Amino acid sequence: MSTQLKINEDLIQYLQNVGYRKDPLVDELEKETKALGQVAQMQIAKEQGQFLEIIVNISKAKSCLEIGRFTGLSTLYMARGLPSDGKIITVDNSEEFLPLAQKYWDKDGLTSKIESIIGSGVDVMQSLIDRQHTFDIIFIDADKNNYPNYYELSLSLVPSNGIIIIDNMLWHGDVADTSKNDSQTKTIRDLSSQINQDDRVEFSLLPLSDGLSFIRKK
Ligand SMILES: C[S@@+](CC[C@H](N)C(=O)[O-])C[C@H]1O[C@@H](n2cnc3c(N)ncnc32)[C@H](O)[C@@H]1O
Repeated sequence: MSTQLKINEDLIQYLQNVGYRKDPLVDELEKETKALGQVAQMQIAKEQGQFLEIIVNISKAKSCLEIGRFTGLSTLYMARGLPSDGKIITVDNSEEFLPLAQKYWDKDGLTSKIESIIGSGVDVMQSLIDRQHTFDIIFIDADKNNYPNYYELSLSLVPSNGIIIIDNMLWHGDVADTSKNDSQTKTIRDLSSQINQDDRVEFSLLPLSDGLSFIRKK
């Protein structure tokens, strides 16, 4: 029986080097984000970005929704996977890093595929439901305490076969540490158990970077 291997520092280096195809524009956005200081840790890993692009591409998605834009790396990768008439709506409750994100979307020729909304994730998703919007793929990467709400709202926003991808589902490994019981860790741990038991979906919990929950609505 094959088992999950332990990932040590050397293997992390390997994954970051060999598991990521060098991309000058992505590297530049990462560098500019790093220069912002501590907040840079919010950015998705580039290996995750590549994965998002492939999923958008092979699923032939035309409409995506993202909750949690920050400096726009995940938006950029997902937009790359979309066809020229595809669209991603990206939502963030802060305007602060939007100009930086837009600079790179523009440089990559993606501006026409991206609509940015400033607002609370829950409110925007509810208003999209009220207006009967649906999305082929939803990517969740915002405030962890709202993850159960984002999951439930996402299930109303994707059709059968729609995909929901949630980042940080291993939460720096804290989910497996029973001494860690802060609200964010508990929320993520509980959500993973809920997804595991939820008959409405199929799922795979992938240990890619900080953990991606990959979910298909039945
Ligand atoms: C982890 S970062 C997103 C990183 C981004 N996906 C990337 O690739 O760089 C989380 C983002 O969620 C936003 N956020 C936090 N709470 C939110 C809320 N209630 N509604 C919408 N966005 C929120 C933050 O402003 C932050 O930009």
